[in-house]
Amino acid sequence: MSDGAQQTTTLGYAPGKVILFGEHAVVDGQPAIAATLDRGIRVAVSRSGVNDGPILRSTNASLPPRCRPDPGGEGPERLRAALRVVVDLCGPHTRQLQFSVDGAIPPGAGLGSSAALAVALLRGVHQWQGEPIDDETLIERAFAVEKVFHGNPSGVDHTTIVRGGVLAYEKPRGAAIGTATSLILPRRLRLAIGVAGPHAGTATAVAALRERARNHPEHYARIFHGVGALARAARLHLEKGELGAVGELMDLNQGYLNALGVSTPGIEALCAIARERGALGAKLSGAGGGGAVIALVDDDPEPVRRAFAAAGYTAFTTTLDSGRVTATSAASEEP
Ligand code: PMV
Repeated sequence: MSDGAQQTTTLGYAPGKVILFGEHAVVDGQPAIAATLDRGIRVAVSRSGVNDGPILRSTNASLPPRCRPDPGGEGPERLRAALRVVVDLCGPHTRQLQFSVDGAIPPGAGLGSSAALAVALLRGVHQWQGEPIDDETLIERAFAVEKVFHGNPSGVDHTTIVRGGVLAYEKPRGAAIGTATSLILPRRLRLAIGVAGPHAGTATAVAALRERARNHPEHYARIFHGVGALARAARLHLEKGELGAVGELMDLNQGYLNALGVSTPGIEALCAIARERGALGAKLSGAGGGGAVIALVDDDPEPVRRAFAAAGYTAFTTTLDSGRVTATSAASEEP
């Protein structure tokens, strides 16, 4: 460590993300398209005054108010294990730190809250150490933390969150790391996002799907290939600004996700509301079994957001522009 002790407080930030195409199939080596959100997780890093931490404190409802890595200590085991990985990666002096976390990503919604926490923590600690971290190392380290939360993640979440913008991501089966390409979009993507309640967890959803796939491997493989083909086609339409076609492909992707058993009545209801209100297309984002639905609109996402909210769902809007998020839209109901 270069002497981080000089620093009083440093900040790490990481945005949440949506998956526009390809969740689950990406675990099977197919391409996916994902983008960062204009909201995320902030971690303030400072000295705790004791050396048996790090202590994580949170004002975010998705996290316990206080957590320490010690086995059997405060906080859920996965979060404590994630903190232990941060100590292993960043060095024993990390034990004297405290992390104050806040942010506005709804938990367990497929919006990247755990990957954003991992990236924001690592950014904050590296800032505190006065040691800049390059994207490749950050991706590698965030992957180690993500594994604690998600078992065997494809890497799409934390890679997108580190790189930012709109990305095509692919990790061929057996490959150690994935490859990501930033996309430049000629048109803004305006989304309304509704949350169909928390999901049961990415690791659980991925494992349950693998189990179902074991009974009919060739049929599931065809669906994964079909989803991959949609992601490839969507990339071309996105790069040409053909949003009507992108929306149609989102609806098709949602059909596959339903066939894979990761949709729910709440997700289908949100998709139906979005389409009735004129969305170009709608689908779940992330692991499914609950969580976020993203609806692409041609112009103003507000009517779809209002319809989501009127039906009782947490809802907000976002705009993705030319490979990076540029506009922060108002959320009538902060998640
Ligand atoms: O963690 P979530 O809900 O954003 O889901 C991540 C996407 C999956 O494809 C379901 C899992 C993975 O590792 O890619």
